[in-house]
Amino acid sequence: MNARHEPQLPCTFVIFGATGNLSSNKLLPALYHLEAAARLSESLSIIAFSRRPWGDDEWRSHMREVLAGKIKDGTDTPVFSRFLARFSYQQGDLNDAASYQALASRLPPPEACSSTVFYLAIKPSEFAAVIHNLEAVGLNRPRGQNRVVLEKPFGEDVESAHTLNQLLHQHFDEEQIFRIDHFLGKETVQNLLVFRFANTLIEPLWNRNFIDHVQITVAESIGIENRADYYDRAGALRDMLQNHLMQLLTVVAMEPPAAFEADALHDEKVKVLRSIRPIAKRAVHAHAIRAQYARGTIDGRAVPAYQQEEGVEPNSITETFVAAKFYIDNWRWRGVPFYLRTGKRMERQTSMIAIRFRLPPQQLFRETPLESIDPNWILLSIQPDESMRMEIYVKQPGLDMDTRLMQMLASYLKTDEQPLDAYETLLLDVIEGDRSLFLRFDEIEWAWRVVDPILKHWAVEREYIPTYPAGSWGPADANRLFDSDDQAWRNEL
Ligand code: BG6
Repeated sequence: MNARHEPQLPCTFVIFGATGNLSSNKLLPALYHLEAAARLSESLSIIAFSRRPWGDDEWRSHMREVLAGKIKDGTDTPVFSRFLARFSYQQGDLNDAASYQALASRLPPPEACSSTVFYLAIKPSEFAAVIHNLEAVGLNRPRGQNRVVLEKPFGEDVESAHTLNQLLHQHFDEEQIFRIDHFLGKETVQNLLVFRFANTLIEPLWNRNFIDHVQITVAESIGIENRADYYDRAGALRDMLQNHLMQLLTVVAMEPPAAFEADALHDEKVKVLRSIRPIAKRAVHAHAIRAQYARGTIDGRAVPAYQQEEGVEPNSITETFVAAKFYIDNWRWRGVPFYLRTGKRMERQTSMIAIRFRLPPQQLFRETPLESIDPNWILLSIQPDESMRMEIYVKQPGLDMDTRLMQMLASYLKTDEQPLDAYETLLLDVIEGDRSLFLRFDEIEWAWRVVDPILKHWAVEREYIPTYPAGSWGPADANRLFDSDDQAWRNEL
């Protein structure tokens, strides 16, 4: 996307937590694919920072190993060799000042290099130490140039998000800070903006007069993998709903921005978040449901209960599923429920936004064999495939007045095109200094405010959490969120 300012291309990219999950699964493959697409400047070097007592050679064999099954074309190519050659390894401890001295001494001096990117692919509890330590060795300068990238969750509630933001602002200018929510880099999410604002067909219908309700589902079949020490403290509400799902909600609900640029987009998203009706203390039960997976079967394979996962407290009541209902009290959306749900170890991986339209005002075909017409849906699939479907009824050819459901399918990709991973888009934006798809602090703050009543309520109700079998669509109780009997979760495209 286009930025307003001139990008200052960085010459060094530092990955803190280089041997961790995020780095191995997302960052390294995405950087490689940028290399393969010739989008990394020749002079960019990458420093992998981690605790393991390695040198460059060990790091490079580690890269070969972790990337083997994850990149197009494999690791025996000239592109891969070029990619490997960009890397060097810095052994260090995130809490140890001397490690940052050592890091600083490897970086080119500011007069030789316009900027450095520091990517914090680490646990949120380690952010503060890194920010302090970078400042202590002067790596927060040049101000306005060196960049720091933070993964979500940004804080664990409104107060801690504020504290983290204050700390960042003590040492970095706002344009140096990239708060990432990788869902905003997903093709369907960006496409939603184009779909809504580049087509005159859609926008007139996109409001309370025509839309009955909106569902946002992010179902994952994976469990918590080996992230228990983070996840058991966070839970699904903090890990997914406050950020990824809330961002999807804002993109569905926002007004057209004045211009397609970072601040104008952020302004509209914040307006949506501010218009969400606060959930009263006594209404939390009616608006939010949590549950945890019990053992079950996924793809024919038995999987353990959450409490049996390695590193999870045996009596943990952390939620691995959350469903919630929100209302946006503005002219466009008043009275339209937005149902959000996400969970781990669900039947299969499906992420989609499903928009259900109202029934036609007149049931013209009631007296015919066709008793009633089901409502129309627009389905925006985010994962595993990226597509947009419109569900409409047509008459079946023949003598009777029978209908048939037809899906108009628009797959975004042409047959010769490859899907992009969100991180490819976002890492390129970081390198080019474009912050449109990154979060401004007030978006994060308002999203915390929206979920705050739920967090507070759950924090005191700590005796019990209902369960759902792994491999299911979550607890049946999630159906009680619906405002009317003809609404139900949509699991299929
Ligand atoms: C991360 C969450 O932000 O998003 C994970 O911490 C989750 O728990 C992941 O699995 C899902 O992202 P994606 O892009 O793999 O669907």
